[in-house]
Amino acid sequence: MKSTKIYQGSHQWILFGRDEKKPGNLIDSNQYMVLTANRCLLLDPGGTEIFASMIAAILHFAPIEKITDLFASHQDPDIISSLGLWDQTLTNAKLHAPAIWEGFIRHFGCESIEYVPIPDNGGTIKLGALELQLIPAHYLHSSGNFHVYDPQAKVLMSGDVGAALEAITAHIFVDNFDTHIEKMRYFHQRWMPSNRAKNDWIERVRKLDIEILAPQHGRIFKGDDVKRFLDWFEALQVGAAV
Ligand SMILES: [Fe+2]
Ligand SMILES: [Fe+2]
Repeated sequence: MKSTKIYQGSHQWILFGRDEKKPGNLIDSNQYMVLTANRCLLLDPGGTEIFASMIAAILHFAPIEKITDLFASHQDPDIISSLGLWDQTLTNAKLHAPAIWEGFIRHFGCESIEYVPIPDNGGTIKLGALELQLIPAHYLHSSGNFHVYDPQAKVLMSGDVGAALEAITAHIFVDNFDTHIEKMRYFHQRWMPSNRAKNDWIERVRKLDIEILAPQHGRIFKGDDVKRFLDWFEALQVGAAV
């Protein structure tokens, strides 16, 4: 599991991914950590299969007792099927996850971790002085789905939006948007069910000041490539299973 610092200010954003040890038939996923002085949030901490690699990787940055918060953008196994293992590992943690998925996500195991349901209109996660915004992204692709915006770092963690199917050796950042398009097209057309939901999200997200758009699979968009992605996604017709 590789780790890459993608933002360094008064707090940090760290990406964990490109896991060479994972079985080849699992989709590669990006896990993120927001690290403040006293607390640590893991975003979409991943599936059961990569739990051991994740624990090993995060311990380079924070001791276990500093991990106080988990976030799950939606209910998928690659997002949060590791919950039962975190539940046995963390002593004092909360899981922020969509309210409508609570009864489902709890099937992964959630006894000691406190489930904090996110209402449909969103909310915040407070890590000391840092306040992160939970941006509704319903039907992109899950019916109850949120992204995390950090106004200080100007990072939007965008879950499956912006995802690309890539080789394990792929670079961390998009370096050629035009060639990147073909790695994203099928994923968005096939998994995103609603043009209307997509356009609502585009309108909401265009109001945010975003320097880094960080999806849960594939490369990260930076600077002008964020706008290029929004323009491309807006024009794309989604929701056709052909
Ligand atoms: Fe998903
Ligand atoms: Fe995913």
